[in-house]
Amino acid sequence: MKLLLIMRINEDTLLEGDKVVLVPYNADHVPRYHQWMCSPDLQKLTASEPLTLEQEYDMQRSWREDDDKCTFIILDKQKWADPTVAEQECMVGDVNIFLTDPSDPSLAELEIMIAVPFYRGKGLGKEVTRMMMCYGIHKLGIRKFEVKIGLDNKISIAMFKKFHFKELSLSEVFREVTLGVTVSEALEKLLFGNMDFMLQREYGKTRDSRLATFTPLSL
Ligand SMILES: CC(C)(COP(=O)(O)OP(=O)(O)OC[C@H]1O[C@@H](n2cnc3c(N)ncnc32)[C@H](O)[C@@H]1OP(=O)(O)O)[C@@H](O)C(=O)NCCC(=O)NCCS
Repeated sequence: MKLLLIMRINEDTLLEGDKVVLVPYNADHVPRYHQWMCSPDLQKLTASEPLTLEQEYDMQRSWREDDDKCTFIILDKQKWADPTVAEQECMVGDVNIFLTDPSDPSLAELEIMIAVPFYRGKGLGKEVTRMMMCYGIHKLGIRKFEVKIGLDNKISIAMFKKFHFKELSLSEVFREVTLGVTVSEALEKLLFGNMDFMLQREYGKTRDSRLATFTPLSL
């Protein structure tokens, strides 16, 4: 029960950074998410299997209910700032934290995907990783992060090394490397400073006021 509460903690959370806004993954996001995951390139980069739209809805529901997973959709903040642009049109990727060891709730695996190629290489990956690690540390009590990355995915490996992740293991069979970091207080200060790079708001209220800005009043 405690874990369930912990992982559903983000269901009304919106995190606002400089270039991105993170919102909880909900059913409205599924069609676009499914469209992304039909790309063989993304399937390879994220080691994912193709799913039908129905399976993707099931997956979204299970991620929402799972007691060990916390997922946000990444939005382009500039687009999102214009309330006439539907939230789904602002989607650029997703980020997950999930607990991998039931006996150690301070250990989590991190996954990130900037799905839309146009948005890669512009600093979004770094910003989202910083926000998600910070959220994980402060809201979920996580101190140890791990990532599994395909050996050919040099960009992702380089990015996580910037966050002081080090190689923990390498599987030639799966062509995958596991990187990890334990966040000490000193490293936390170095990576996140005073945390003024991120604002937290209530997702429901923010979404409603965004919708109200341009929904014409019915007479
Ligand atoms: C990997 C990924 C998350 C990185 O996010 P991004 O927004 O493209 O990267 P950023 O612009 O924030 O750059 C982060 C770091 O990645 C590296 N990097 C980014 N683009 C690069 C490029 N074209 N060539 C080499 N290194 C690059 C750099 O080290 C960079 O840090 P720097 O700008 O301080 O030098 C993103 O490219 C992605 O989602 N790719 C597809 C899915 C995927 O691979 N997910 C990860 C699975 S583990």
